[in-house]
Amino acid sequence: MSTFYVTTPIYYVNDVPHIGHTYTTVIADAFARWHRLMGDDTFFLTGTDEHGLKIARAAEDNGITPREQADNTSIRFREAWESIDISNDDFIRTTEPRHYAAVQALMQKVYDNGHIYKDVYEGLYCVGCEAYYTEDELEDGNCPIHKKPAERMHEENWFFRLSDFAEQLLEFYEQNPDRIRPEGYRNEVLGLLRQEVRDVSISRSSIDWGVPVPWDERHVFYVWYDALINYATAAGYSSDDERFEKYWPSVHHVIGKDIIRFHCVFWPAMLLAAGVTDLPRYFVHGWLLVGGEKMSKSRLNNITPAQLVDGDPEDGTDGFGVDGFRYHFLRDPAFGPDSDFSYEAMVTRYNSDLANQYGNLVQRVITVAHKKCGETAPAPDPESALSAIARTAFEETAAAWERGQPPMALDATWRLIRETNEYLADNEPWKMEPGADVDRVMGDALEAVRIVTILASPAIPRATQAAWERIGMAGEVTDQRLPDAIDWASGPTGATLTSGDPLFPRRKG
Ligand code: ME8
Ligand code: MG
Repeated sequence: MSTFYVTTPIYYVNDVPHIGHTYTTVIADAFARWHRLMGDDTFFLTGTDEHGLKIARAAEDNGITPREQADNTSIRFREAWESIDISNDDFIRTTEPRHYAAVQALMQKVYDNGHIYKDVYEGLYCVGCEAYYTEDELEDGNCPIHKKPAERMHEENWFFRLSDFAEQLLEFYEQNPDRIRPEGYRNEVLGLLRQEVRDVSISRSSIDWGVPVPWDERHVFYVWYDALINYATAAGYSSDDERFEKYWPSVHHVIGKDIIRFHCVFWPAMLLAAGVTDLPRYFVHGWLLVGGEKMSKSRLNNITPAQLVDGDPEDGTDGFGVDGFRYHFLRDPAFGPDSDFSYEAMVTRYNSDLANQYGNLVQRVITVAHKKCGETAPAPDPESALSAIARTAFEETAAAWERGQPPMALDATWRLIRETNEYLADNEPWKMEPGADVDRVMGDALEAVRIVTILASPAIPRATQAAWERIGMAGEVTDQRLPDAIDWASGPTGATLTSGDPLFPRRKG
């Protein structure tokens, strides 16, 4: 059995979850769900990043301690993920003892291996990014992302010899072109590694909200060097070797392009420095924009995940439900480039793919089968043309999930829905007399519905479970195992069909 370990970034707890975090998390969730269907031993991690200046300052503004700030906000992320059916196996908080232990163990290894030294640091720091910038990278002294002035810092710090690993990483990414996807981001990382790579400061003595440096307790680790290690902590680094060896080689990080340098340059270098030779794989996406601006907590756009799920009585907009919300973020924004968020596009996509295509198909097939074939499901034709179409849909869906392309995976899945709707339109079973012919057509359609319901389940878990039950299938759709589950004619023949309300009531624009 293969393993599949997938992570989201751990999110800062200076403010509550927004659409940008939700986007990344839904994608990672769909990857995890797909791999569970494929029978992989899957471990899906998300969590919160709770140290650093940014959190300390947010706490100060709120008149509470950093720990209270972290406790209050971390729970909001947990609740948000539960409310949209995120299926994470673990939720890590960087303030947990298990994380302190792993950070100290990993960094001590790096130190013992001779890759850390002490020096004085002077530089321009953006608290929003928790990162240093060079003069050139700033715009009129302002951080290019947060548009706020960078602050001059002067500290005695511990440094990591990042420069010693640039060559090796460059070679690694050149030889392993699939490690960073889509390809544009791989090129960006190659570009970073071809420039002069400077050593990086990894500790702070000016604040104490962090993980203490084990060999120098006056310092805490710089928040990023504690945060990145969360992925190793949760896999059992330094606490459960067997578990770590099992999951670590299959680790996949889903991240936004804003944190590519930390993840694709600093992090693998630290792993190598600590003697961990299995390096991560990456799926990198662009920014969701509203009116051309990045959605963020510090520059709020007035849309919350809850408003899109539940609707907003104040302005009379419809909600999309959990499935409609998830489907939009998986299907609409191309995975990689930046993309504009639009409520109108969300309505259009919902009505077309969910209400008209999937929802309608399920409804129609059950209604017509009831009318023409009785209460139980007729058998499909073993030679049906839909059988080959279903097989191809599966193969294309699988290949796209494998490449980390949710929109393409769902497009391939939806092709089977469209083909099945066409098959019905061509045969017009509603005009046929009860008998063997209409039984065959409806048996085929039901079998296609069963297969597409499995394939669509990573995106729309609630509606697919409901459909699964309506076509008389037992158990959970998520317990099906691919590719066996798509064998043609292994479906609901003889099962009782149940009709119900539309799975996706149409939304007004
Ligand atoms: O960077 N569009 O946390 P963070 C798309 N704690 N994705 C977006 C987005 C947008 N407008 N805004 C945020 C941190 N994201 C660190 C990570 S990991 C060891 C530490 C998503 O709360 C995207 O995935 O600022 C981005 O990389 C992440 O949220 C940043 O979340
Ligand atoms: Mg950020």
